[in-house]
Amino acid sequence: MIGAGNMGSTYAEGMSKSTLLNEKKLQIFDKDPERLRAVQERGILESFYKLEDCLPNADIVFIAVKPDHIEGLFEEMKPMIDEKQMFVSLMAGVKLDTILKGLGIKKAVRTMPNLPAQIGKGVTSYTASKDVSRLELIMVRSFLDKTGKSIHVENENFIDASTGISGSGPAYVFYFMQSMLEAAKKMGFSDYDSHVLVSSTFEGAVQLFNDSNITPKKWMERVASKGGTTRAALDFMTENHVEDLIKDAAYAAFNRAVELGKNQSTPK
Ligand SMILES: NC(=O)c1ccc[n+]([C@@H]2O[C@H](COP(=O)([O-])OP(=O)(O)OC[C@H]3O[C@@H](n4cnc5c(N)ncnc54)[C@H](OP(=O)(O)O)[C@@H]3O)[C@@H](O)[C@H]2O)c1
Repeated sequence: MIGAGNMGSTYAEGMSKSTLLNEKKLQIFDKDPERLRAVQERGILESFYKLEDCLPNADIVFIAVKPDHIEGLFEEMKPMIDEKQMFVSLMAGVKLDTILKGLGIKKAVRTMPNLPAQIGKGVTSYTASKDVSRLELIMVRSFLDKTGKSIHVENENFIDASTGISGSGPAYVFYFMQSMLEAAKKMGFSDYDSHVLVSSTFEGAVQLFNDSNITPKKWMERVASKGGTTRAALDFMTENHVEDLIKDAAYAAFNRAVELGKNQSTPK
């Protein structure tokens, strides 16, 4: 794993539970000693300050640096890699073509990670360049599944689309939670009680949805009786086009992901 930041350490620690590693530890590299120290303290991964000490031995190389850093990183990596290795990017908005051309390789997988991977409840979508075999893809999937669930998508358009749903999505849920928290406090609840009311409501609703096979729409019909309190809230949201706004917000993230990909320069 190159990059021991938020995403790199989260995914590496999750994936280190993979039985595919046998006795081996997953190796992590970062140029920032502070970041590595934090990882070392947890003792789960083998950590490296020098790329030459780990990169040439790796079968699969995960990349989790900020997109702005790839130009320098790819230049450093190039002399140490070979065609048997496979590269998996966790970077948002970096196209497969940029990785293939930048590293002069044929096998790369592009993913869209998501934050709840931190607690093993992430969902990662991924797509691969055509030279990645089915077996290699199964291997990548089995690693990603250690951080939650994964979804294989046919092309990169769906990676940008999943940015709008799962990549940026946790923040939409936090937005809704924050609004509910503020409403609870305005009604006079303490900070603690507001927290319990909101977090239990979200957790309970998600659990109900997951344990059933009915849609959120059907759940809304079940809980909102005519003339009742829930109906009053849902009618208010419908009248104010909240549903359309949420869809438009997801599209704003999707469109921004497409735009970021277009603005990218391919490292030479
Ligand atoms: N955070 C999210 O929720 C999220 C969601 C989806 C996708 N992603 C993607 O995940 C990637 C990583 O994000 P992050 O939040 O984990 O970033 P981060 O916390 O900044 O971690 C990146 C780490 O990589 C290090 N690094 C930079 N250049 C390097 C190099 N040449 N060699 C070795 N290490 C290098 C950085 O060191 P310095 O700090 O010293 O530069 C930093 O420790 C990004 O591409 C982002 O688009 C993140």
